Amino acid sequence: MRIIRTIPELRTALKARREGGNTIGFVPTMGFLHEGHASLIRQCAARCDCPVVSIFVNPTQFGPEEDFAQYPRDAERDQNLCLKLGVKILFMPEPSEVYPTGFSTFVEPGNLGNVLCGEFRPGHFRGVATVVTKLFNMVQPNLAFFGQKDFQQVAVIRRLVKDLNLPVDIIAAPTIREADGLAMSSRNTYLSPENRQRALCISRGLLKAEAAFRGGTRDAEALLAAAKTELNEMDEIHYCELVDALTLEPVSREVNRAAVLAVAAMVGRTRLIDNVLLSPSADTSHFISHLGD
Ligand code: PAF
Repeated sequence: MRIIRTIPELRTALKARREGGNTIGFVPTMGFLHEGHASLIRQCAARCDCPVVSIFVNPTQFGPEEDFAQYPRDAERDQNLCLKLGVKILFMPEPSEVYPTGFSTFVEPGNLGNVLCGEFRPGHFRGVATVVTKLFNMVQPNLAFFGQKDFQQVAVIRRLVKDLNLPVDIIAAPTIREADGLAMSSRNTYLSPENRQRALCISRGLLKAEAAFRGGTRDAEALLAAAKTELNEMDEIHYCELVDALTLEPVSREVNRAAVLAVAAMVGRTRLIDNVLLSPSADTSHFISHLGD
C-alpha cells in the first residue's frame, strides 16, 4: 500500500495503474474508520483492481459552530486497517493541498442539499459536493462507494455526477450497525455510556417501522408513528421524515416506490442521523446499489 499526500504523486501512481488496465475503485472518507468504512473498502477491493481510499477531514462541510476541530482522528490505526483490507493507494492530503490559497469555486447542489440535514447544516452539502467533485477529479475512479447511512449525501452525489457528467458509477452500500442496532458512525465516539444507551431509540424506532413495512404497512403516517413513538429519549429531534429515495420529497400518503424513513436527532451535544430504506421491491440490496441509475 502506498501512502500519498500530494495530487501530482497521486496522478502519476494512478496513471500507471490505469495504463496497466486496472479498474480504479474509490472510497472517500474522513478517517477514524469503523466497520461501516471497512465494509465499503471490502466491496471496493472485491470489485476493483486498484482500491483507493482517501482520508481528509474536509473543513468546508463543517459549519462555524460544528465539530471540525474535535472530529476524531487516528491516522496510524486507519493506515493499518487500510493495509489489512488490501487498499493499494491511501491518499491523505493536507488541507492546503486540497484548498490552495485563493480557492473560490464551489459546487452548489441545489434543493437536494437544502432539505432535511441541509436545513440544520447550511452549506454542509455544498462542502460535500465540492470536495467529492475535487476528489473525483484527482482520483478519476471507475467506481466510488458510499454508505447508505448518509442517504442524503448519496442523493446529492448521484445528482451531481449526472448533472456534471462525471464518468463514475456510484455504489451505495447498506448501513452497518453495532450488535445493539446503533448505526456505526465516527461520531459515536462522542457519546457517554448513558447517551449511547439513549441513542438506541433511533434505530429501535426505525427498525420497528421497517418491520411494519415488511409486514405490509404502506401508510406514511402509520410508518412515521411507529418510529416516532420510540424517539422520546432524544434531547431534540431535528427531523423524522418519510421521503422519496430519489427526490427526497415527502411521501404524504402511501409508499409505493422506494422511500427512506430518516431521523436526525440530538443526544446531549451529539447530532446523530440514521435511516431505513423502505423499498416495495423485494431485493433491496440490489436496489440500493443501483438507486437512481
Ligand atoms: O461521508 C464522509 O465521510 C464525507 O462526507 C466525504 C464523502 C468523505 C466527503 O468529505
